[in-house]
Amino acid sequence: KRLLLVDVDCGVDDAQALMLALAAPHVDILGITCCHGNTSLDNVCRNVLRVLKVCNRLQIPVYGGAARSLLGNCLHASHYHGVDGLGDVPDPSSPDLDFLQKEHAVLAMIRIVNENPGQVTLVATGPLTNLALAVNMDPAFPQKIKSLFIMGGNMESRGNVTVCGEFNFACDPEAAYIVLNRFDCPTHIATWEFTCKNALPLDFYNEWISQKTEKAEFMRKISAHAEDFTKLSTEEKGWTEGFLPCDAYVMAAVVDDTFVTDVINCPVGVELSGTLTRGMMVLDTSGMLERKHKVFVMIKCDTEKLKCLLTKALQ
Ligand code: BDR
Repeated sequence: KRLLLVDVDCGVDDAQALMLALAAPHVDILGITCCHGNTSLDNVCRNVLRVLKVCNRLQIPVYGGAARSLLGNCLHASHYHGVDGLGDVPDPSSPDLDFLQKEHAVLAMIRIVNENPGQVTLVATGPLTNLALAVNMDPAFPQKIKSLFIMGGNMESRGNVTVCGEFNFACDPEAAYIVLNRFDCPTHIATWEFTCKNALPLDFYNEWISQKTEKAEFMRKISAHAEDFTKLSTEEKGWTEGFLPCDAYVMAAVVDDTFVTDVINCPVGVELSGTLTRGMMVLDTSGMLERKHKVFVMIKCDTEKLKCLLTKALQ
């Protein structure tokens, strides 16, 4: 079995990614750690519990982590995910936060990795604050994980919350900087542009959420807010990408080795001080940084495989 630790800022596409992983028979999720990001930390924790409940998997341990970025800021994405992070649909049967583990997410990450040295794949679908704290607390942490998969950053300086800033990196640029400088394990990145260039057709989205299952019903409800935002951006801004389940792309790469069909393998950096470029990921394709560690930046993928995995996730 593939052992995963998943670090999320559970908004709508994190929920999609989690459901995709939960449906993969060869994957064992050892824990889910929560981080600020799309919404407040408490909402993130509650949202993860809601996802686990609908999938009947509340036995997976969930841990609360960083409530703010390393510099103490918070940036939320309520315009897309809703204020509560899951489309602001009332859910009276939402599990109580008492279901959360008492241990802090960062300590849990370090412990779980130490208990399974060299075996855990770490997947991060939110700001990288918990990961940066983990490597600061235990500098050997990156050598003990099998590999790291990140949804975040960009490769052509196109942002989605600032001119050049992708949301997860823009939320905590210092954390992204620390992680990309210090995690020398095999590292795979699904950037914002990667998801845009491999967008799924809206027809698929409509069919997908029309499946007659409880999980599809849940997905339909929590996605309605994001769907409205997508329609508006298409009409007003001319964004025509289609359906972008960003975090599900990175999870598809984790569960299926054949999903990604083309990568750039090079060192990367994160801009911390630019006025227009803070939080931007920079690809060092000519090796100017003289860094040994090269990351795999995803370029192309087999979108049919993603459709299949997403479809199974709601069955
Ligand atoms: C990323 O930002 C968040 O809003 C999404 O959940 C995804 O992780 C896309 O830039």
